[in-house]
Amino acid sequence: MKVLVTGGAGYIGSHTCVELLNEGYEVVVVDNLCNSNPESLKRVQELTGKTLKFYEGDVRDEALLKKIFAENAVSCVIHFAGLKAVGESVAMPWEYYDNNLNSTLVLTKVMKEVGMKNLIFSSSATVYTADNEMPLQETSRTGYCTNPYGWTKYMTEQILSGMSHADKEWSIVLLRYFNPIGAHHSGRIGEDPRGIPNNLMPYITQVAVGRREQLNVFGDDYDTPDGTGVRDYIHVVDLARGHVAAVKYATENAGCEVFNLGTGTGYSVLDMVHTFIDVNRVPVPYQIVERRPGDIGTCYADPAKSAEKLHWKAEKTLADMCRDSWNWQSKNPMGYGE
Ligand code: NAD
Ligand code: UFG
Repeated sequence: MKVLVTGGAGYIGSHTCVELLNEGYEVVVVDNLCNSNPESLKRVQELTGKTLKFYEGDVRDEALLKKIFAENAVSCVIHFAGLKAVGESVAMPWEYYDNNLNSTLVLTKVMKEVGMKNLIFSSSATVYTADNEMPLQETSRTGYCTNPYGWTKYMTEQILSGMSHADKEWSIVLLRYFNPIGAHHSGRIGEDPRGIPNNLMPYITQVAVGRREQLNVFGDDYDTPDGTGVRDYIHVVDLARGHVAAVKYATENAGCEVFNLGTGTGYSVLDMVHTFIDVNRVPVPYQIVERRPGDIGTCYADPAKSAEKLHWKAEKTLADMCRDSWNWQSKNPMGYGE
């Protein structure tokens, strides 16, 4: 079975390509490389000993998508392509709405035309409102997003569920990711953010490798056990396997279903720092600073629906996540840029 992976050269996409190829799927990638390096796809093929087909281009390019579907008998699409930096989305809202919404609209237009209607979409826990009880269930309240990036995820969920409501041939899986970290255990592929990392784990690894002086811990006065923010960190390989489960689900079930991809356990910023130091035996100097605007204290998933219907659950531990993040960073201090 052939799967089209948009954004397949990126962090989560490249790990998903590995898992798909290992499970015997054929993989076609389309990526414009606006936030990735084609080296990731070279390494995906090295790691699996299998080849994939790569189209360099934009998912908003309708002619390119028509060509891809004409040249490949695709049975399911996993749609990762999009812009993902929260702060940047506040500074460049038009670019975020254009990329994230139009990529989905063009993609689904062409899918309708060719009559292939199995789609997995990368959504985010950011669609949940800040006032929910924990753990977050798929039925928890959504909306009231605090930035354009979050709105693009919320709006895309609305677009896709509306399409599935109107046309019962669609089979759509909306995956709400919690906080993906870690890397393939080989250390050959991993997260390679451009510029100063926004997210916690890439910041920690860049401090540990000497690219940054110290970590700023954003606030220690939250209502959490140690006062620092609590999140549901999930190993990217577990997340990638969740996509393989979702492909199986989408090709066997019609409709539009939403699933949390998280572990169900929250860890604080200081839990992360101390586990990272203990597991890897490297220093990570840090200081406590003011809260980061827009952050919430605690966020973690109820992954029960994914376990029941996708037959998937996260298996890797926090120690695995910290070890694999460091293995990638220490072997590739400048990411793919070296
Ligand atoms: P990433 O930036 O590493 O990967 C996205 C890929 O899409 C990149 O390779 C980029 O070059 C490509 N791309 C972007 N716009 C494109 C376009 N118009 N046409 C073709 N290619 C395009 O990001 P990631 O962390 O792998 O995230 C993948 C998806 O998961 C994104 O949709 C993101 O919003 C979502 N997500 C990520 C996180 C996270 O913390 N990493 C959390 C929740 C949801
Ligand atoms: N943090 C620090 N210092 C840093 C970076 C982060 O203390 O340098 C803290 C944050 O305050 C937060 C925790 O580490 O408590 C995690 O922060 P991240 O930025 O890694 O992740 P967020 O939970 O804030 O956001 C992530 C993605 C968003 C997505 C959201 C929900 O970056 O795109 O999860 O899925 F919307």
